[in-house]
Amino acid sequence: MRVAMIGGGMIAHDQLLPSLYQLQRLGRLGEIEVCDQKRESLEALAEAPVLLRAFPGQKFMPRLEPYEEVIASLPPRQLVVTAIPDHLHCEAILCALRHDQHVLTVKPLVLKLEHARLIEREARDRGLLVGVEYHKRFDDRSLLARRRYQEGFFGEFRLGTACLLEKWYYRHSNFQNWFSCEATDAFTYIGCHYVDLVAFITGLRPVEVSVYGIRDRFPNGVEGWLWTDARVIWSNGACLNVQNAIGFPDAAPGTNTQGLTMYCSTAERGAWIRHDDQYRGIQYSYVKNPGGAGSTLYAEPSTDYFQYVDLGGPGLVPVGYGYRSVAYIAERALELEGLGLEERRAKLAEWDRGGVMATPANSSYNEAVIEAARLSIAEGGRPIAVSEA
Ligand SMILES: NC(=O)c1ccc[n+]([C@@H]2O[C@H](COP(=O)([O-])OP(=O)(O)OC[C@H]3O[C@@H](n4cnc5c(N)ncnc54)[C@H](O)[C@@H]3O)[C@@H](O)[C@H]2O)c1
Repeated sequence: MRVAMIGGGMIAHDQLLPSLYQLQRLGRLGEIEVCDQKRESLEALAEAPVLLRAFPGQKFMPRLEPYEEVIASLPPRQLVVTAIPDHLHCEAILCALRHDQHVLTVKPLVLKLEHARLIEREARDRGLLVGVEYHKRFDDRSLLARRRYQEGFFGEFRLGTACLLEKWYYRHSNFQNWFSCEATDAFTYIGCHYVDLVAFITGLRPVEVSVYGIRDRFPNGVEGWLWTDARVIWSNGACLNVQNAIGFPDAAPGTNTQGLTMYCSTAERGAWIRHDDQYRGIQYSYVKNPGGAGSTLYAEPSTDYFQYVDLGGPGLVPVGYGYRSVAYIAERALELEGLGLEERRAKLAEWDRGGVMATPANSSYNEAVIEAARLSIAEGGRPIAVSEA
């Protein structure tokens, strides 16, 4: 199976391309093309020291042409990976589906429920996979909490609090070219991870959202909602507070700060889930800065999300839920190879029902939340009902 990745920016470098390279190394995937509208992005990705060190001899084919041309040049039912800014996902995914391609997309799938529906229909009609890469689902702690919750060990979710704040230096990256108030906000960009996770663990659905945002400026003067505080009400009346920002100090350890606490109960007893998703128990103080964006002398790396380990070579092997999540979706696309339309549809429906992989059919509550959130933030945090997803 060939792969065409659209967008060769940060997430492509940090997680997607190394995961795809590893699957290529294992013989699961074939040729990889990366399409980006900027030559510098493709050059930076091709020359990235960690990728050269981890995958000696492996290369992607750089494509500067419009993605429509790159997608059109693929034989049917290969894998298109979309890794471009949020507001461009919809068109690119529809373009891939209309050229009969399976899709792995970074979250959020799209920004409007109507667009998620359109994608869902197009994919179902053609028997194509659309996997939304909510990688936190593949963190074993999420899968364990989900299993325990479903087995009744926590009773019912009541109140929760979650946060994910990216570091300040993001403001100096390409984000300033697309993260404007009109396009997105901190909650839409990263808050969706925890909304998705609470739905994933509990099976509850969000029904109302209110997002208070603070406008702040990028170095190039573009204004973005860089600090947000959201309140999400759930189908059983539970309430989740989510704080997001691009503003966690660069000097602080870790690549961000993040975590989730859920207070739950039965009629007789309280229950509690707490995940420190930033501090995974590793503390390093280096004698020299390892380099790369945001590196600090004191560090708290996470081997849970994405790291490279030396298993004797050649190169290095990516480990963590960032890799497992990409591998899971790619393996599902591979499972569809050689099947007829009805067989593919049956498998896709089974995965929609299983709910482990986020798909347009089983996770469009995320789009409904985003849509309500975008209205709410523009109106100073007015509570907005979430459409039935
Ligand atoms: N935790 C996560 O799941 C996670 C983390 C980071 C990013 N993301 C998502 O990944 C996407 C990309 O984010 P990023 O951080 O890599 O951004 P980025 O700005 O670093 O990279 C985006 C790349 O897309 C390219 N691009 C833009 N428009 C294009 C077009 N029409 N055709 C081809 N290339 C185009 C840009 O030139 C750039 O190289 C966003 O949707 C973001 O929300 C998800």
